[in-house]
Amino acid sequence: MAAGSGALLQPRPRLGERLLIVGLGLMGGSLALAARRTGLFAQVIGHSRSAATLAQGLSEGVIDRAAPELPAALAELAAGDVVVICVPTLSLPAVLAVVREHAEPEVTVTDVASVKGSVVAAARAVYGGVPPQLVPGHPIAGSEKSGVGAARAELFIHHEVILTPLAETDPGHLARVRGLWESAGARVSEMTPQDHDAVLAATSHLPHMLAFGLVDALAGGAQNREIFRYAAGGFRDFTRIAGSDPVMWRDIALANREALLKALDYFTGRLGALRAAIAAQDGDVLAGIFTRAQAARRHFEVMQESKPYMNAAPRRSTYRVAPGGRLVGDIRVPGDKSISHRSIMLGSLAEGVTRVLGFLEGEDSLATLQAFRDMGVVIEGPDHGALVIHGVGLNGLKRPVGPLYLGNSGTSMRLLAGLLAGQPFDVTLTGDESLSRRPMRRVTEPLAAMGAAIATTEAGTPPLRIEGGRALHGIRYDLPIASAQVKSCLLFAGLRAAGETSLSEPAPTRDHTERMLQGFGYPLRREGGRIILAGGGRLTACDLRVPGDISSAAFFLVGGSIAPGSDLVLRGVGVNPTRDGVIHILRAMGADIEVFNRTETGGEPIADIRVRYAPLRGIEIPDHLVANAIDEFPALFIAAACAQGETVLRGAEELRVKESDRIQAMADGLIRLGIVAVPTPDGIRIQGGTLGSGIVDSCGDHRVAMAFAIAGLRATGEIRIRDCSNVATSFPSFPALVRSLGLTLTESGE
Ligand code: S3P
Repeated sequence: MAAGSGALLQPRPRLGERLLIVGLGLMGGSLALAARRTGLFAQVIGHSRSAATLAQGLSEGVIDRAAPELPAALAELAAGDVVVICVPTLSLPAVLAVVREHAEPEVTVTDVASVKGSVVAAARAVYGGVPPQLVPGHPIAGSEKSGVGAARAELFIHHEVILTPLAETDPGHLARVRGLWESAGARVSEMTPQDHDAVLAATSHLPHMLAFGLVDALAGGAQNREIFRYAAGGFRDFTRIAGSDPVMWRDIALANREALLKALDYFTGRLGALRAAIAAQDGDVLAGIFTRAQAARRHFEVMQESKPYMNAAPRRSTYRVAPGGRLVGDIRVPGDKSISHRSIMLGSLAEGVTRVLGFLEGEDSLATLQAFRDMGVVIEGPDHGALVIHGVGLNGLKRPVGPLYLGNSGTSMRLLAGLLAGQPFDVTLTGDESLSRRPMRRVTEPLAAMGAAIATTEAGTPPLRIEGGRALHGIRYDLPIASAQVKSCLLFAGLRAAGETSLSEPAPTRDHTERMLQGFGYPLRREGGRIILAGGGRLTACDLRVPGDISSAAFFLVGGSIAPGSDLVLRGVGVNPTRDGVIHILRAMGADIEVFNRTETGGEPIADIRVRYAPLRGIEIPDHLVANAIDEFPALFIAAACAQGETVLRGAEELRVKESDRIQAMADGLIRLGIVAVPTPDGIRIQGGTLGSGIVDSCGDHRVAMAFAIAGLRATGEIRIRDCSNVATSFPSFPALVRSLGLTLTESGE
């Protein structure tokens, strides 16, 4: 049994008197066992044409009663009872004819066939229409073993069951079938029979055909079986499913003929392209196919198990930070998150090959990378921060097969909303729990004014459903909030819009998008505080190096400032004037920070930064620095807690809608550690004091987690920080880096 799943098969309230299973194989037997375990029905009856199967079902306790005669068994049933037809697909019409003749219309009827269009067709032929009592269903579970002897009550736990009700289906019968499967531990979803058959043709039926076909081709005659002697794990993994039941698969291939032929033709075409690349010795094309496939396979695992993109950290981890220490050394922080996102976006939409160095291999930027792979862009890497992006041009993206999953990344979602609003295809953008709570109207409303159609939830939160094929037009828009994400989103939409897009901002925000657009040769001008761009241009590939992330550096700037004896150099940090608010704020508090070796990379200013311990004093943070330090406040609040006197922040209500409510999360943690911190609607007041020990919650927010880790440098006792795995979104190497500087940070699963 799957670990921890036993609770799913506990006794349940009764659903009906009798459950009749027609066909006592693996599926039918397993469902019978689950129903008996949960006591869902007073009696579980089994029918099979084979007396031996019935006898085995009885002796192994799979069923309560054997019914050798199907008509008699059906005639016994009444409203509330359920018949589940578990026979091979091609035998189903004959069984349905008997059901029609002998079962009352109040009895619920369902099936488990792997093809649903053929079940609906059979129902129409037998009944002259789909009867309200019929709820076609398909549990996506199985095994290469077959027969009642292989039945397991746990077979369906955590498996998907797809129901394909029709307009004619009665909601009461549908609810009963749903209840049956849910009590067996399955996750139930609904779709149309056509969608079901197309999805299954691609994800299940095609792979089975390939496995059967490959083994048959290679076996091709008795003497060839010898070659299997040399076949290793790859062959075994790939062909495992060729051990499945041949009759069942013959039936499925015939029943789902149309959808399967489509899938086979599509695949044959792709195989032809692979063949051609091998014939032409085209290593680039091959590398592209393999890279894309490898990434898609990894993404599949991520989606299936809701795993992070990186396996560095346990899913929920706690940091324990021992008190004291100082920061001495010479380090580099990872690449800038904002610029990494944009490098993928513009590299993908450019014409030609873009090479990127210093790309941040964190969850957020990897989510963007995956999204573009899902839209058909070949991206090699990342390999130690190096990427090769084979740009497809502004019109070259392909419709992804499913929703684009963007994890925790607000930047990915908001910027992609702009990029995709004018594409010819429909696309849905989804994210994790935190991203699903974040406000999106700030982008969907101005995009709608440009002609886009994007649906959100009623609360204005994700998922975003973007309608394809909308013609966009430029807009003149005054951003109501200082947001680089909104600005970038609209500039990206402007690339595909007719006419000019002209934007003004209430306060300057990070200008990476503007700089990078120009780096990719896209004209853009600034006029009287407005940013103006005309649609219809082209992006030309270029090479770029991503600067170190000043938002990651901020933890060390604060740590070095608060820990006596610190003397730390940070190399190659991005010091774009729209991002360097943290340096100005810390200096105003008395910090000893020196910026030197100033130069430029990829149109972005960078520098080395030296920070040494200095006593800090509380200040009123100047309004004009808020937007330029928006991501650095969690770290700055720790500086404030260690400063002499009070620090006051105003005009920062945006902090309440970041990955967490950062004002509340930080205030709660600081208070726990003994600091006087008073949250206000748009900021906070922090009284400098002594940081004690305690347990704080990061609220799943990477920057809150890292801020409290750095607080350990000045704490009087151990700080434990809960829920830290999200540090991987922006700074996966953070724990290792702080340890290398002498901080005692240990990580454990929660
Ligand atoms: C970002 C902009 C900022 C910032 C975020 C990244 C970007 O958000 O907080 O982490 O890359 O454009 P807002 O522009 O919404 O303030």
